[in-house]
Amino acid sequence: MGSTPPPPEILDGDVTRLDVDGTFSVSWTHRLRFSRNVLAPGNQLLASLLPEEPRPIRVLPVLDSGLVDARPGLPEDVTDWLDRNADKVIPAAPPLILPGGEDAKNGWDAYEMTARAIAEGHVCRRSLVLIFGGGAVLDAASFASATAHRGVRAIRLPSTTLSQGDSGVGVKNAINAFGSKNFLGTFAPPHAVVNDTSLLDSLDDRHWRSGLSEAVKVALLKDPDLLDKIEQDTVPLMERDLDSMERILIESARLHMNHIVHGGDPFETKHARPLDLGHWSAHRMESLSNWTLPHGDAVALGLAIDLVYAMKIGMLHGGITERVIQCLQSLGFLGETSVLDDSEALLVGLEEFREHLGGRLAIPLISDIGVAGEVDEIDQKTMKESIDAVRKAANQSD
Ligand SMILES: NC(=O)c1ccc[n+]([C@@H]2O[C@H](COP(=O)([O-])OP(=O)(O)OC[C@H]3O[C@@H](n4cnc5c(N)ncnc54)[C@H](O)[C@@H]3O)[C@@H](O)[C@H]2O)c1
Ligand SMILES: [Zn+2]
Repeated sequence: MGSTPPPPEILDGDVTRLDVDGTFSVSWTHRLRFSRNVLAPGNQLLASLLPEEPRPIRVLPVLDSGLVDARPGLPEDVTDWLDRNADKVIPAAPPLILPGGEDAKNGWDAYEMTARAIAEGHVCRRSLVLIFGGGAVLDAASFASATAHRGVRAIRLPSTTLSQGDSGVGVKNAINAFGSKNFLGTFAPPHAVVNDTSLLDSLDDRHWRSGLSEAVKVALLKDPDLLDKIEQDTVPLMERDLDSMERILIESARLHMNHIVHGGDPFETKHARPLDLGHWSAHRMESLSNWTLPHGDAVALGLAIDLVYAMKIGMLHGGITERVIQCLQSLGFLGETSVLDDSEALLVGLEEFREHLGGRLAIPLISDIGVAGEVDEIDQKTMKESIDAVRKAANQSD
């Protein structure tokens, strides 16, 4: 009688027993609309964007408290819109009001309030969350929507210039956690982004101009004509002319949209992130100011610093740096520079930025208007000189 062979597991040793790779893709339609008075009777835009589902669908409205303070009639306007469209939508709950500004992202409160309202309002994956607010409320409520039931659809209605031209148009969401900006979040395209520019006239001056530094950023990266337009319109923009602001935001949003849809990397898996021009220091400045410095003001300072640096390392013509600093100043930016006083503390932002993206350091810069580039190391002494130069330039213009 022969001996019993050992079981096949042992015989095969480290040979893989199953080796299958499957590749699939998921297609998304990223919808972006500009309009005015979207909740007014007669404006059909919002109703036309409702998901194709058996009607009526449940809708949870979420509103930014700062927006409601400035526009006390907004919750009722939302409720009236829901009532007028009762054949298509059912309110899942009365409008949920979240704390406006960075408070929405610092801590779990706004996330939890939204997730709880989704649960208690029986908002399912065939339903919709309708979010009105600045970038911070959009981020927190979109994160809750994207993770509840593994993804409930949301329509974003950005209510600041920054969120209409930049952050609201994107496919990301996040809250701040463990001391890090945007530490927890997902890539989850909204069902649609609806920019109602009639919401913008109640913004204070700092948030009115906020979207313009992001518009300058995207112009520097992709569109010299947009920089010309911004420069030509600085006076009406500063005088809060809505038509002028709308024209710039439409171009800025369109460039962001193109980048997401045609840039080949909507979920940012690759190394380069050109849209982060000026942002390694901007994020650090916001946290150093304990979130009192608006993102748009921080981005303007960050752009100035990176353009001075690009000039100092011989990458960018000095005339361009001067022109952009002049443009930012005439839009009301670069006035508050106390966050630049401690350049050592600001430089910590480089490592935070690298870690957030993962892998090696890659700082986006430009070599001309409309010509994006990047560097993979930063000379700290030259960067400190650049920070000091921006501080001095800003203080001289006082
Ligand atoms: N998800 C992304 O891709 C992305 C990209 C860039 C920035 N962001 C985030 O966006 C946030 C900044 O957004 P923001 O600049 O829109 O500011 P914000 O959301 O902080 O809002 C600014 C202030 O304006 C109030 N407000 C909003 N709309 C108003 C209106 N129409 N009238 C009067 N007050 C109004 C808010 O309550 C708040 O007090 C940051 O947290 C930033 O990280 C996200
Ligand atoms: Zn930004």
